[in-house]
Amino acid sequence: MTTQTLTITAPDDWHIHLRDNQALDTTVPHAASSFHRVICMPNLTPPVKTTEQAVAYRKRILTALAKANISDDRKANFDPRMVLYLTDHTMPDEIAVAKTSGIVSAVKLYPAGATTNSADGVTDILGRSSVFEAMQKHGIPLLVHGEVTHADVDIFDREKRFLDEILSVIIKNFPKLKVVMEHITTADAADFCLAQADNIAATITPQHLLFNRNHLLVGGVKPHFYCLPILKRERHQKRLLEVATSGNPKFFLGTDSAPHATHTKEAACGCAGCYSAPHALPLYATAFESVNALDKLENFASIFGAKFYELPINTNTITLVKKEQVIANNYPYLDGKTLTPLLAGQTLAWSLHE
Ligand code: DOR
Ligand code: ZN
Repeated sequence: MTTQTLTITAPDDWHIHLRDNQALDTTVPHAASSFHRVICMPNLTPPVKTTEQAVAYRKRILTALAKANISDDRKANFDPRMVLYLTDHTMPDEIAVAKTSGIVSAVKLYPAGATTNSADGVTDILGRSSVFEAMQKHGIPLLVHGEVTHADVDIFDREKRFLDEILSVIIKNFPKLKVVMEHITTADAADFCLAQADNIAATITPQHLLFNRNHLLVGGVKPHFYCLPILKRERHQKRLLEVATSGNPKFFLGTDSAPHATHTKEAACGCAGCYSAPHALPLYATAFESVNALDKLENFASIFGAKFYELPINTNTITLVKKEQVIANNYPYLDGKTLTPLLAGQTLAWSLHE
């Protein structure tokens, strides 16, 4: 019997957290082993607020890449694309500078307090009109963490409320602005995206395709399934799988791979984020195979995102093999700490062909 293989155009990750400094020694080789372009989230401490800071951050990523123990081919193909962190003080002029830089691909909107390192996020989102106007003019996409943050809104309703109260207003006021609804988690978000014009798209993570809130909460709290927006009920997981495998170019790959040291997740107040970069493609293959849609993986992982960002399609390929792999229990991270990946110690049916 021959082993099943799947060769696809080399994929890109349109949403990843690489962190900074020493963390890059762990995260960059993992990202570069699977992906060509990666959209690097700017929620560092302090955040990446200007093009100048983005240029410096990209240099630190490339320094880590040069040191990485991966093939020269992988290194040559890795292209970290930068994102500016929108604050209450971002000026429209910064958008023109970002555009001419050629390395800033987008601006990220974190509602203040929504998630990890979002304290500098926006408090008056609809008050940022002059910046949205400049982004619309220069064709710079707005990447949205779509959750309201009011204490009185239930955590499971925060995404839907953001669509109704904030995103629909932004889209109405700036109908040509490109928007990526990042890491969508509900049928509401999927259907909202479908109802919009082509300039509105969405990324979907592997965890939101493979899991629901039962995986997080039944039989004990599983901190490595905790991310934001939080996993929702199974009905939403199913709808996300449906749209991801529908062949609609509005939906594409964004892992939201987000490293936190193991002890900060396995804690009384655990951090949000699932670390999936090393095995993200086998995870997505597992999700797509579960609904007999492996033939839809290439467009989702390698084509639709590039088209949305108006970038060329990668010319290389990667091959996935239907060969079991045991996911590492953890990776070395920072000074003597560890990083626990999503599904640590468990077996996946798919592997990346080396
Ligand atoms: O789970 C998450 N982790 N969601 C986010 O929005 C941020 C990310 C992080 O930076 O850790
Ligand atoms: Zn993220």
